[in-house]
Amino acid sequence: MKLLNAGRLPAALQARLAAAYDLTTLSEQADRAAFLAAHGADFVGLATSAAVGADAALIAALPSLRVISSFGVGLDKIDVAAAQALGIVVGYTPDVLNDCVADTAFGLLIDVARGFNAADRFVRRGEWLKGTFPLGRKVSGARLGLVGMGRIGRAIAQRSTGFEMDVRYHARRPVADVPWRHEAQLLELARWADFLVVITAGGAATRHLINAAVLDALGPEGYLVNVARGSVVDEAALVLALQQRRIAGAGLDVFENEPQVPAALMVLDNVVLLPHVASATHQTRQAMADRVFDNLHSFFATGQPVSAAPAA
Ligand code: 8YV
Repeated sequence: MKLLNAGRLPAALQARLAAAYDLTTLSEQADRAAFLAAHGADFVGLATSAAVGADAALIAALPSLRVISSFGVGLDKIDVAAAQALGIVVGYTPDVLNDCVADTAFGLLIDVARGFNAADRFVRRGEWLKGTFPLGRKVSGARLGLVGMGRIGRAIAQRSTGFEMDVRYHARRPVADVPWRHEAQLLELARWADFLVVITAGGAATRHLINAAVLDALGPEGYLVNVARGSVVDEAALVLALQQRRIAGAGLDVFENEPQVPAALMVLDNVVLLPHVASATHQTRQAMADRVFDNLHSFFATGQPVSAAPAA
């Protein structure tokens, strides 16, 4: 069974796939286009990652393709509609990363509110010897506005109960089985919230959902946390809002043009910058790798992956 690896996969997963399938890694081919033209029709499976995905051109270059298995929950870089129109099944890794992404959202929220990273730099610079660190913003009891109420949104909201936070969320439609209040207007949610946490899917439908107007609604006492996709936030508008102190701070795990982070953010102390590590623990990455493998194994055995992407 011929499998093409187009993504950035953990070494142990690549080794496991190579042991089970006839695996070829696209990035190792000198001329990608020539390789695909000559051998694209050989592959029945494609392994990729959320960051790399599979666009319509790659899918079209693999005319025998039956299944895509992606390392990650985000489907924004995969042309799921194009794949499904051709009868190609798309597998991904939902659920197994909920805890770590929710933990990261809370880590960023507390860090930016209390200034822990900035305080660490303060200590290292020897400034504690000369004075005290500025006061932070209390987290417990604050208002948490979630943009998105999927699996990870729920995990974040659940964690907030330990901090006795008041939770509301914005989603296109109210979610049936959650106790938190739905806010139909994103601007209203931003006005209400002390912390606005973005955990909605990326892609065209949510591009720049968090724009200057939303940031101004959040206001000079409000904090933004993004553990979704950089594309959901208008990064230029965010940089301006932070520079002009029109919002209080931001905790960011994702950026519009990763791994590029705007230089303007690097010099701000009210911003916490992470290199897209929300799911990056040994335990979660292992579970994601296992799901990538199991999705393929299950598809070839039964015609269905363990976790299939919903219809686009
Ligand atoms: C991935 C992610 O680990 O799952 C996603 O969609 O963004 C991360 O959890 C990363 O993109 C690896 O490809």
